[in-house]
Amino acid sequence: LHIAVVAGGYSDEYVVSLKSCELVYQSINPEKYKATRVRILKEGWYAEIEGEKFPINKEDFSFEKDGRKETFDCVVNIIHGTPGEDGFMQAYWQLIGMPFTGCSMYQSALTFNKKDCIAVLDKYGIPHAKSVYIRQDLPYNKEEILEVVGLPCFVKPNQSGSSLGISKVKSPDEFEQALEKAFHEDPEVLIESFLEGTEVSVGVLGMNGQTTVVGITEIISQNEFFDYEAKYLGASEEITPARLDEETRIRVEEISKKAYDCLQMTGISRSEYIIVNGIPHFLEMNTLPGFSPASIFPQQAAYANIDLMDLFDSEIQVALN
Ligand code: DAL
Ligand code: MG
Repeated sequence: LHIAVVAGGYSDEYVVSLKSCELVYQSINPEKYKATRVRILKEGWYAEIEGEKFPINKEDFSFEKDGRKETFDCVVNIIHGTPGEDGFMQAYWQLIGMPFTGCSMYQSALTFNKKDCIAVLDKYGIPHAKSVYIRQDLPYNKEEILEVVGLPCFVKPNQSGSSLGISKVKSPDEFEQALEKAFHEDPEVLIESFLEGTEVSVGVLGMNGQTTVVGITEIISQNEFFDYEAKYLGASEEITPARLDEETRIRVEEISKKAYDCLQMTGISRSEYIIVNGIPHFLEMNTLPGFSPASIFPQQAAYANIDLMDLFDSEIQVALN
């Protein structure tokens, strides 16, 4: 079977995706599958083989090499950001009948939209920070917003990843600049109250009707928060398993499995929480967590003795069935 390991994306996160691609590519069992890297980039869609680029035919996601048409049997998707994490590629693959790993179009679109995801989880009683949602094309009132969320607060692009465009705002005069930075990533912005507590990142896996927690990682950022530098350039300490008392650990496991199930997710995921007085507060859900050398999910899988080759083999089998 021919597997397309698809990476890239149109957002600034494509850099991380290209890094994630390498570990995923190496995790496709060569005894069972033939794997080819495929890039979905602003400059174009192409298969990449030994440094050579072969344009993808969008009608059936095939390409031509040495005068022969090459087709794929399944996509292993590791795009971060749009259009691979927010449902667009999922809709396309579904329409052309190409099996793909991970969440469906709707689950991807819902979870990638922070305000919508939180609104749904709120209906299920999952705790989260207070927040205000604004749009670049609609009027908003800074004083009213700050009255609701207080200071410090977080200004976040509503749809983005890897903390790109996020600022922690500590005084009212930092607000406009933070907004500008967030609007650069997305014309929709979420402003959230700062939660004082322990940050944890939880890998959750759904396979054959079973939802399991892969690992809970405690995040200690040397920066003001777990920003891009802390995530990828080493300015953070990540402790797996998180140092939690038994009761809190069980609560984190229960809430993260509940969030996963409520959102009707499929396969690999990683969600983030701040634990305030023993209660995990939901921050966000990632349907395509990073697999870069600095990323958390592979650390959790290693700790849990989950072999990545077996994991992706199962993902492919689920996609094909
Ligand atoms: N958005 C990045 C890749 C992550 O969640 O790991
Ligand atoms: Mg994220």
